[in-house]
Amino acid sequence: MSNLYLGIDLGTSSLKVSLANLEGEILLSAKKNYPLIQLKPNWCEQDPNLWYQALLFCLDELNKNFDLRNVKSLSFSGQMHGLVILDENDNVIRNAILWNDSRNIDEVNYLNNIIGRDKLISETSNIALCGFTAPKLLWLKKHEYFSFKRIKKIMLPKDYLAYKLTGNFASDQSDLAGTLFFNVKEGKYSKFMLDLLDIKEEYFPKIYSSYEVVGNVKKELEESTHLLSSTKVVIGGGDQAVGGLGTNSLKEGELFLSLGTSGVVYAPCKNYHYDKLGRLHTFKDTNSNFFLMGCTLSFSGSLKWWIEDILETKDYNLETKNLPDEISNVIFLPYLVGERSPINDPLAKGSFSNLNSFYKRKDLTKAVIEGCCFSLLDNYLVMEDLQMHFSKAKAIGGGASEVVLQILADILGIKIDTINTKDGAALGAIILALVGDQQFNSLEQAADHFVKIKKTYIPNLEKHKKYLEKFKRYKQTYLDLKK
Ligand code: XUL
Repeated sequence: MSNLYLGIDLGTSSLKVSLANLEGEILLSAKKNYPLIQLKPNWCEQDPNLWYQALLFCLDELNKNFDLRNVKSLSFSGQMHGLVILDENDNVIRNAILWNDSRNIDEVNYLNNIIGRDKLISETSNIALCGFTAPKLLWLKKHEYFSFKRIKKIMLPKDYLAYKLTGNFASDQSDLAGTLFFNVKEGKYSKFMLDLLDIKEEYFPKIYSSYEVVGNVKKELEESTHLLSSTKVVIGGGDQAVGGLGTNSLKEGELFLSLGTSGVVYAPCKNYHYDKLGRLHTFKDTNSNFFLMGCTLSFSGSLKWWIEDILETKDYNLETKNLPDEISNVIFLPYLVGERSPINDPLAKGSFSNLNSFYKRKDLTKAVIEGCCFSLLDNYLVMEDLQMHFSKAKAIGGGASEVVLQILADILGIKIDTINTKDGAALGAIILALVGDQQFNSLEQAADHFVKIKKTYIPNLEKHKKYLEKFKRYKQTYLDLKK
């Protein structure tokens, strides 16, 4: 049997493991869901032990059809920003506080207004946002001091799985970039931020690039994982950076759109680049190179809410078929869980406005899709403001349906390509595993080999002009409701 590789996608609702051959062809995938723990509004937690249990479950499933002793290496795409803390016996102290948790508004305001945005940008390249890890730690210190004092290790979600498998305390630059205690420009921890958090550097993981091997599977785990102890563990990266790799968006000039629950606009930069106003994040990719990113929190999340919770159907095709061609006056703001970039307003609210009895179900569905796309346009226009210009983009994710992609192309006014996989994070993690096993010389070489363009959506420029007018009304609606 030839060599096999595993790509592990540690998501927010499930963990998915994809098994691939040397050609990067996915032979089989296994998935296990786990719950989101929401003890209060705006709180989102998960038990890291369940992630590990989910991993063992998926490995068990895959091993029923393929002998996992042939797996040469594995790697990860991880949900970013989550705070995982272990005590001196390596026990998880409390549930992980996740990227979509916004209990820490006071800590974010303290960081941005008292410490100051300029200082944060000079130390970390980013301003404080509720999702980021450092403000979660400050919240913990204030509200759960007893847990805070017990901390001996702080890590990100995927790092916990790597630690369980190898016993090595490691992370990578793409994931650390979203913590706000990492100096993104220099690729090292920010001493200023660690002092502010009152945590010693030894409690943070060793820093790698995503394609680096950080250890092998522990001998005592051979039975429960079905993997040999020679299997290499490649540290992997934050899900957006791994998606960037899985869509071959590694060079300046590329634009990558990730249309999942959240929506992301992602632009690689050759040189260090940041937004003085902190509207976009400066992060690092799987090669530890820079990219700028904007993230709207509820992209497909809003469409799912509308179709599944409100219209009470799962038939997306039927609901989005034959939508009215004209651009209506109905405006939908997709801020159902507040908003991250570019407005950084955790208290922003969703809304429909300009309703009239003339408008029916399909008009509202179209308004929801337009609103989601406007929230991406909002980020895209910041990139233009920073003199970054694009003529096309690549899109992946569960929200990348034909209808959505055409409206998005019309709204952004650029061509949008789809590629040979919707699951860029799985492919990206497999590429990392292959490069970690030295099957390719570089990430670029592997991505060029695997990623192919499938279909291109061409913007209708007449509609684009009208959409830019409607976008002004969308922005005004947000400002009016904020008053
Ligand atoms: C990125 C982000 C999300 C999470 C969960 O900044 O918050 O992509 O990583 O997917």
